[in-house]
Amino acid sequence: MEDKWQNEYDFAVQVARAAGAVIRKAGEEEIKVQTKSCAVDLVTKTDERVEKIIIGSLKEHFGDEHCFIGEESVSSGQPCILTDKPTWIIDPVDGTTNFVHGFPFVAVSIAFAVNKELEFGVVYSCLEDKMYKARKGKGAFCDDEQIQVSDVKDIHKSIIISEHGVDRSVDRVTKIFSTMQKILCIPVHGLRGSGTAATNMCLVASGATEAFFEIGIHCWDIAAGVVIVREAGGLVLDVDGGPFDLMSQRMMSANNITIAQRIIKEIEIFPVPRDDAPAPKKK
Ligand code: IPD
Ligand code: CA
Repeated sequence: MEDKWQNEYDFAVQVARAAGAVIRKAGEEEIKVQTKSCAVDLVTKTDERVEKIIIGSLKEHFGDEHCFIGEESVSSGQPCILTDKPTWIIDPVDGTTNFVHGFPFVAVSIAFAVNKELEFGVVYSCLEDKMYKARKGKGAFCDDEQIQVSDVKDIHKSIIISEHGVDRSVDRVTKIFSTMQKILCIPVHGLRGSGTAATNMCLVASGATEAFFEIGIHCWDIAAGVVIVREAGGLVLDVDGGPFDLMSQRMMSANNITIAQRIIKEIEIFPVPRDDAPAPKKK
């Protein structure tokens, strides 16, 4: 069954490109901003609209057999459970804060999993107009050119990406900045962050940076990037060095194990809920 998911893959690329065009157009108009979990967790009508467009086109094309995990659907109460069924994992606008501010990195992220295994991932960095994509066992590409992780093994010659998410409790921010301080003082060449996890992973995959990690990251932000990093020759682990778990909100991606383990030594881990944790019962 060599080409089993080829149709789905090709269609995902098409849908991501169309979604990106909608985002670019919306960015030229006035953006009305709302908040979700807290004052810095932003959402716009475009996030909701683009998710509806993506899921609508996928349903129209592939029928109701497939399952969907989309950031905005989960926000509005849909379950975030990965089963063995073919499942699309979607972030319609990754980098909503960037989108609102005109900071030029915004991505559409679409992944596809079967039997809980990620089969392919598509990340369209729509303001740069770069289409990253990868299919399990078939390599990773940016605009049809094959990409590869960097071959740097010396941590002192690395650039590392981390982000801080939207939880600004002093405890959490202190841990994040303590980790960043320790990494900077290794020293590494630099610390970066594009404001979109999906794009960060593509930067690891294309060799622009050696690693990206985050605690508190959601499955829709990283699912497509996971396939792209792996297919570019990199690896994805838990932040403690154990096996990666898509629903755990913990992710370390790197060009190689030497870099990953050196960074992992410095990470101060803090507790986060799982994406698939049952919603708290309403009183
Ligand atoms: C966010 C971005 C950001 C990461 C956050 C995510 P969103 O996604 O990927 O880089 O640090 O944890 O929530 O909200 O823009 O889709
Ligand atoms: Ca989003």
